[in-house]
Amino acid sequence: MAATNTEYPELLYEYLNGFIKTWSLVAAVDLKIFDHLEGAGKPLKATEVAKNLELNAPYTKRFLDVLTAMKLVKKNSEEETYTNEPLSSKYLVRSSPDCMAGAAVYERTIEIPTQAWLANAIRTGDSQLENAIGVPADKIFDTEIGCYKTPQEQYEFIDGQEGIAIGMTNKCLTSFDLSEFKTAVDVGGGSGVNTWALARLYPDMEITHFDLPVVLQYREKFMPKNAKQYKVKTHEGNFFEDPIPSADLYLVSHVFHDHPVAKSVGLVKKLFGSLNPGGAIVILETFWNNEKTGPLKAAMDEARFLALLRDSYIRSPNDFSDILKQAGFVDVQVSWVEGEAWSDTIMARKPK
Ligand SMILES: C[S@@+](CC[C@H](N)C(=O)[O-])C[C@H]1O[C@@H](n2cnc3c(N)ncnc32)[C@H](O)[C@@H]1O
Repeated sequence: MAATNTEYPELLYEYLNGFIKTWSLVAAVDLKIFDHLEGAGKPLKATEVAKNLELNAPYTKRFLDVLTAMKLVKKNSEEETYTNEPLSSKYLVRSSPDCMAGAAVYERTIEIPTQAWLANAIRTGDSQLENAIGVPADKIFDTEIGCYKTPQEQYEFIDGQEGIAIGMTNKCLTSFDLSEFKTAVDVGGGSGVNTWALARLYPDMEITHFDLPVVLQYREKFMPKNAKQYKVKTHEGNFFEDPIPSADLYLVSHVFHDHPVAKSVGLVKKLFGSLNPGGAIVILETFWNNEKTGPLKAAMDEARFLALLRDSYIRSPNDFSDILKQAGFVDVQVSWVEGEAWSDTIMARKPK
């Protein structure tokens, strides 16, 4: 149906209802419904789910039907039992190595409350993070007043980034052939989700997982079981203040958007300086098209950052290309990642 159809405003119904899908997913994760269905090892009746998770039985049955319609749970209507759909078994169960559930917790604690202030962001031209959750926009990564205050907040933030990235990392990292590079640094690597994905793709590559000390203390929680077979090490530091280890490849995933324009541009220049000649920078971010008319996922990220961040915006390939070229990079290439993956990829070279 065309977006301009005025007989039946389907698009508006979709927008008005969108948040209920988010909240249903968040509630199911919070209630551990997917973990419980998976752990049972057999289809369960709603009464069993309710009893084991200490929930209200009639509401649980109605909610399992909701999750069935959302294609997250499978219902056997004859036996009135429920199991996880394969999508939920792989991505929403805590024991799965591909678990994205942390993203739902992150949405609930940070993004949803902040997004409620979007109109005020547009009125005032500033981040609403402080109004929404008491964190000043320029202190997101602070251990005293930011999102890294308490161990629980630290873990939830890092787990949230892991959850957001894990479903799309491979799609992004296979956009370009990186096999020529012997050494790499995952700059602001967070949980290490991209570090490990890169290591799996290129087992001989020596990869440094670089982030703040507060983040790297959690790295073992996100390590794959076979971590020892890869050439991965860590480097604690602040990428604005400390030297960044030299390497053939810098991977910078969902980092630039977090910082004001001048700091991001300064970081691109600093990375250019430390990169080995002939090396490359690979950036994962969602991109607007050059006309800034879509895709919708970039527009949604722009709306998200209007409320969340200060002096930061979603860039188009042309925007990134300008920043990279000003720093000295050449041969800028863009790869759009199909679908809803929260990222696209751009690569540029430092001349030999
Ligand atoms: C949005 S997260 C992205 C994490 C990861 N690259 C990913 O794609 O999932 C941004 C990361 O940058 C790190 N970071 C922010 N400021 C930093 C700084 N000054 N020095 C080093 N790391 C920093 C944060 O701790 C966080 O792990």
